[in-house]
Amino acid sequence: MAAAAVASAARSLARARGGLLLPPPPGGPCRRANMASLSSLNRGKKVALTTLGVLTAGGAGLALALHTAVNAGELELHPPEYPWSHGGMLSALDHSSVRRGYEVYKQVCSACHSMDYLAFRNLIGVSHTEAEAKALAEEFEVQDGPDENGEMFMRPGKLSDYFPKPYPNPEAARAANNGALPPDLSYIVNARHGGEDYVFSLLTGYCEPPTGVTMREGLHYNPFFPGQAIGMAPPIYNEILEFEDGTPATMSQIAKDVCTFLRWAAEPEHDQRKRMGLKMLMIAGLLIPLVYYLKRHKWAVLKSRKIAYRPPK
Ligand code: HEC
Repeated sequence: MAAAAVASAARSLARARGGLLLPPPPGGPCRRANMASLSSLNRGKKVALTTLGVLTAGGAGLALALHTAVNAGELELHPPEYPWSHGGMLSALDHSSVRRGYEVYKQVCSACHSMDYLAFRNLIGVSHTEAEAKALAEEFEVQDGPDENGEMFMRPGKLSDYFPKPYPNPEAARAANNGALPPDLSYIVNARHGGEDYVFSLLTGYCEPPTGVTMREGLHYNPFFPGQAIGMAPPIYNEILEFEDGTPATMSQIAKDVCTFLRWAAEPEHDQRKRMGLKMLMIAGLLIPLVYYLKRHKWAVLKSRKIAYRPPK
């Protein structure tokens, strides 16, 4: 009696589940056949395959080693990594350093280097107040016009003006610098390998050329510059200027501040980017586990289901 009930229950279950209880196709699933193919190779083929693998890996390793060796032969001194206060994943720029860096740019670098992509208004809220930035802009005379008579005229700078250029065109810049063109500094830390580490090393790295190396007239020895002969004379030294906040103006302090300023110039969104990054991490920390849990929950039904084809009778 009980046995008959169990048997009929099993039958109705089988009907309800459809193909679930179908026997596997003869010959077994074809995936297993593929997986067995490696072990079905004979010994000789296995040895040949292994040798091929080892040779490929060895060749790739050798190519990499040779490539590195060739780079080392280029006699280029790579800058060390400096512990910038803005170097951390979540660290903002040091804004008093940016402010001092602007002083360095204005008093030293701007004699030769333009910063075409920076306007005085960009300094507001970063290193200067609006009144200070206005006063800075007004120190410069800017050509404007034409007026109602069609004449160009000079007026004091405004917040919307871009930083004044030292030379009217690249030819004039070359002519004044022994043929070397001082690059625009707006994006220089992004434009050079090593970023601010490189610029810092370049500014502080001038030294006597090694014995036997002679410099052409107008070139200076700097081990960090590719080719070692740079057209820029050492631009900074101890106490070349006085910082308005009283920070001792040593050479390394000046270089560090101008590099921080150049990092801000190349990446004005720096602080915002890191703040967004932190928010993103926090929100993702909550959402990713939740989404993972939901995915497991929703897919559990699908993943544990077996689909089989029942050929028509
Ligand atoms: C007397 C003019 C002069 C001054 C002042 C000057 N530079 Fe230069 N700078 C040059 C010239 C010229 C070059 C191009 C050198 C070359 O290509 O050989 C140059 C090149 C550079 C480069 C690019 C190097 C490279 O890898 O191509 C950087 C960075 C730089 N200067 C930063 C500065 C900074 C920062 C200051 C201010 C502290 C400064 N310079 C002040 C003339 C100057």
